[in-house]
Amino acid sequence: MNIRSKAQAILNIECDVLILFVIEDQVTLSDSAQTLDSLLNGALTAVSELGDFTGKKGQSHLLYTRGVLPASRLLLVGVGQENAITTDTLRRTAATAVRKAREMRTKIAAVLLTDFPNQHISISQAAQAVAEGSLLGGYEYRGQKSTEAPPETGLPETLDLVVVDAVLEGEAQAGLSTGMAFAAGGIIARDLANLPPNICTPAYLAQHARDMAESTGLTCEILEEQQMRALRMGALLAVAQGSAASPRFIILEHNASHADQMDTLVLIGKGVTFDTGGYSIKTSEGMVGMKGDMAGAAAVIGAMGTIAALNLPLHVVGLVPAADNMISGNAYRPQEVITAGNGKTIEIISTDAEGRLLLADALVFATKYAPTAVVDIATLTGACVIALGKAAAGLFATTDTLRDRLLQAGDAAAERVWPLPMFAEYDKLLESDTADMKNSSGGRFAGASVGAVFLKNFIDYPAWAHIDMAGMMADIEGVPYIPSKGASGYGARLLAEFARQWAEQAMAATSSNTSIG
Ligand code: BES
Ligand code: ZN
Ligand code: ZN
Repeated sequence: MNIRSKAQAILNIECDVLILFVIEDQVTLSDSAQTLDSLLNGALTAVSELGDFTGKKGQSHLLYTRGVLPASRLLLVGVGQENAITTDTLRRTAATAVRKAREMRTKIAAVLLTDFPNQHISISQAAQAVAEGSLLGGYEYRGQKSTEAPPETGLPETLDLVVVDAVLEGEAQAGLSTGMAFAAGGIIARDLANLPPNICTPAYLAQHARDMAESTGLTCEILEEQQMRALRMGALLAVAQGSAASPRFIILEHNASHADQMDTLVLIGKGVTFDTGGYSIKTSEGMVGMKGDMAGAAAVIGAMGTIAALNLPLHVVGLVPAADNMISGNAYRPQEVITAGNGKTIEIISTDAEGRLLLADALVFATKYAPTAVVDIATLTGACVIALGKAAAGLFATTDTLRDRLLQAGDAAAERVWPLPMFAEYDKLLESDTADMKNSSGGRFAGASVGAVFLKNFIDYPAWAHIDMAGMMADIEGVPYIPSKGASGYGARLLAEFARQWAEQAMAATSSNTSIG
C-alpha cells in the first residue's frame, strides 16, 4: 500500500472509498461533514437521526454517493466521545477502516484528515497515527506458504491522506513520513519474530541487521564466536555452546561519527532464536512460541531502522546478543560456574534462565560507549506474564527520570510498560555458595524482579532500564492494528518513540542553554 498526502477540496477527491472520522454524537458537526451532508442531500443527517450510526468507537457506516462525488463510497467511522480521543484511537480507527476498504476490494482509499484541537492532536499527529494504523493493520504474515495470497487479502493500492486546507499539507506530509518510519520498524520486528527458528538463526538475524544497516545508513558490526571469546563473553558463549548454530553479537549504530557531541543511548535486545530450556528443558507446551524468544532483538533492530529513517540527532547503539538455547553433548548444565565479561562468576541453577546470561554480556559490552542511558528489552520471564498479563510489559529502572520517560513513550506509542520493583530483598535470592551469584533463585517468588536484579550486577552507567516483554511478544487480541495471532512487533515503536522524545528534549535543553549563555 502506497500512502500519499494531498491537499484537495472534497469535490475533487477521486477514490473508491472516502473515509471520514466522526466524533460520537457529532455526525453532522464538522465542516467536512456538513459539506458532505448537503452534497448527499441530507444523508448524514438521516443516518444520525435514525440512530443507525452515532460515531461510537469502532462503529462504521457505508454510504454510496451515486455520482454526486468523484468518491464512489463514503465510509463513516466512529472515533467515540471527543474527550476520550487519543492518537491511539486514530491508529485503531484507521486500521479498522483500511480493513473494511480491503473487504470492499477498493484500489484507492482516501482519509479526510482532521485535527482534534481539544485533545491536542495536530494534523501531523493525526497523519502519523493514520499511517501507522493502516500500515500495521494491513500487516499479514504469509510465512513459507507456497501458494499466492488470495486477492481479497490485498490492501488498497493507494491510501491518500487528504487535507482540505492547502496550508496543512506540509504538516500532513511530515506526520505521514514519521508514521511510515514507525510502522516500518514495527513490521520488521513482526517479520523477524514470526520467522521459524530453522530460518531465523543468529547468523540470519545478523545478516538481516547488516542488510537493513546498508539500506538505512546505520553502521553495522557483527562479532563472531572468536571475537566474543576474546571479549570473555563467557555467559553468552555458555548458552550458545549447545547449538550447532553459532552465536552472533550484532552492533548497529546511528550517528557513530557524532558520538562525542550527542547523548548516547544503548538499546539491547534478547536474541534467543529458540529456547528449548536446555537441560532444564521446557515442557512441550512451554516450548510452543519459543521461536519468538528473540522478540526483544527484533524490537531493537526494528527501532534502529525507525531511528535511522527519522535521522534523530542522537547517538544510538543497538546491541543484539543472539544464540540458540539447545541440548547436546556440548550444552551447558546446571551447577556449572561461568564467568561474564566483567569477570563476575555465575552459578547456573537453571539453563532455562538463559536470556539474562546473554544480556549480562551485552550490558557489560555497553559500558564502552559511556552511555547516557541503557535500555534492554527481553522476553525474560514467564513470571512477568503472570504479573501483568498482556496489558503491559514490566519496567525496571535505576532512575525515576528514565522510568518516567519510558512510561511516557509507552503511552505515546500505545506499547505500555508498567513499573515493577527491584527491592534489595531480591538480591538475597540469588546468593550462591560457589560463585558471585546464581542465575535463578530456584524458587517461584517475584520471578520478573529476580531477573531484573540479576541484570543489575552487570551495569556500570548512570541510568539503566530493563523491559520484560514476555507477555507482549505474540497473540495480542482486541487491537485492530495488531494481529491476534503471531508476533506483535511490540517494543520497536516504544523504543523508537523513547529515542525520538529523548532527542527532542536534548535539543530543547541545548537551545535553552544557548539562549541563556
Ligand atoms: N524465554 C523464557 C521466558 C518466556 C516465557 C518468554 C513465556 C515468553 C513466554 C525464559 O528464557 C525462561 O525460560 N525463563 C524462565 C526463568 C526461570 C528459569 C528463572 C521462566 O520464566 O520460567
Ligand atoms: Zn529460558
Ligand atoms: Zn528465553
